[in-house]
Amino acid sequence: MGKLDDKIAIVTGAGQGIGKAIAEKLSAEGATVVVTDINEATAKETAERLGNASVGIRTDVTDPASVEAMVEQVTTQFGRVDVLVNNAGWDKASPFMDSDRADWERVIAINLFGVLNTSKAVLPVMAAQGSGSVVNLGSDAGRVGSSGEAVYSAAKGGVIAFTKATAREMARHQVNANCVCPGPTDTALFASMGGDNPKLREALTKAIPFRRLAQPDDLANVVAFFASDEANFVTGQTVSVSGGLTMS
Ligand SMILES: NC(=O)c1ccc[n+]([C@@H]2O[C@H](COP(=O)([O-])OP(=O)(O)OC[C@H]3O[C@@H](n4cnc5c(N)ncnc54)[C@H](O)[C@@H]3O)[C@@H](O)[C@H]2O)c1
Repeated sequence: MGKLDDKIAIVTGAGQGIGKAIAEKLSAEGATVVVTDINEATAKETAERLGNASVGIRTDVTDPASVEAMVEQVTTQFGRVDVLVNNAGWDKASPFMDSDRADWERVIAINLFGVLNTSKAVLPVMAAQGSGSVVNLGSDAGRVGSSGEAVYSAAKGGVIAFTKATAREMARHQVNANCVCPGPTDTALFASMGGDNPKLREALTKAIPFRRLAQPDDLANVVAFFASDEANFVTGQTVSVSGGLTMS
C-alpha cells in the first residue's frame, strides 16, 4: 500500500535531477506518473524504469500548445489528473547589473510562465473532479533572495505568491496547492550555477546547519507528502527543504 495508490500524477522537468527523483518517489508510492520534460529522451528513459503504466511525454512548459496537448493525452488515456508537480526550472548565474533581457525572458518563461501554462490546463480538470493536489517547486531564492539570481528570485517569488492565490481560488473545489522550496541541491542545475566549484561547494556546505547539500530525494519525500491525501487539509503553504540554511 502506497500513499499515492491509483493516482495519476504529472511531473514537469522530470527527465533528470529533482524532477526525476520526484517521479521515482511518486511511482514508488503507487502513482502512475506522467514524466514530462522538454528532453524527450530523458522523459521516456525515466518513465520506462517506473512501474504502474507510467509514461514519458515531451512537453515544453513555456509553450501553451505543448502543455495542452500533453494534458489532453493524459485525460484521454487515464481519464483524470490527481497530482500536478510543477518542477521544471532553469537559471543562469549573473549579477543583475550584468544581466541581459534575453536571459530575463527565458528565466521568467520557464520558471513562472511554465507554472501558469500547466496550471491553466490542469486546474479545470481538477475542478471538474472536485479533487486534486498541486505542488509547485519554488526556491529559497524566492523567499529570501539570492545574489546572482535576481530575476530567478523574482520568478520564484512569483511562483510562491501564485501558489497562495490559486490555493485560495481552488479550495472550493477541494484542490490544494503548496510550494516546496529547495535550498542548494546536488543537481546539474546547481553545478551550472557554480556548484561545480569545490570552494563554493565547501563554503555552502559549511553554511548549512546539517552540513550537507540537499539530495533530490530530500525534495521528493516532501513533495510526495503534499501530493498525498495526508496533506488534504494543508494548502497555500511554503516549505523550505534546505537543511536549516533558511528558517522562518
Ligand atoms: N538544484 C538546486 O539547487 C535548486 C535550488 C532551488 C530550486 N530549484 C528548483 O528545483 C527544480 C528542479 O531543479 P533541478 O536542480 O533538478 O534542475 P535540472 O536542471 O537538473 O533539471 C531540470 C529539468 O527541467 C527540464 N526543463 C528545462 N526547461 C524546460 C521546459 N521549458 N519545459 C520542460 N522541461 C524543462 C530540463 O530538461 C531538466 O530535465 C527547478 O524548479 C529549480 O528551479 C533547484
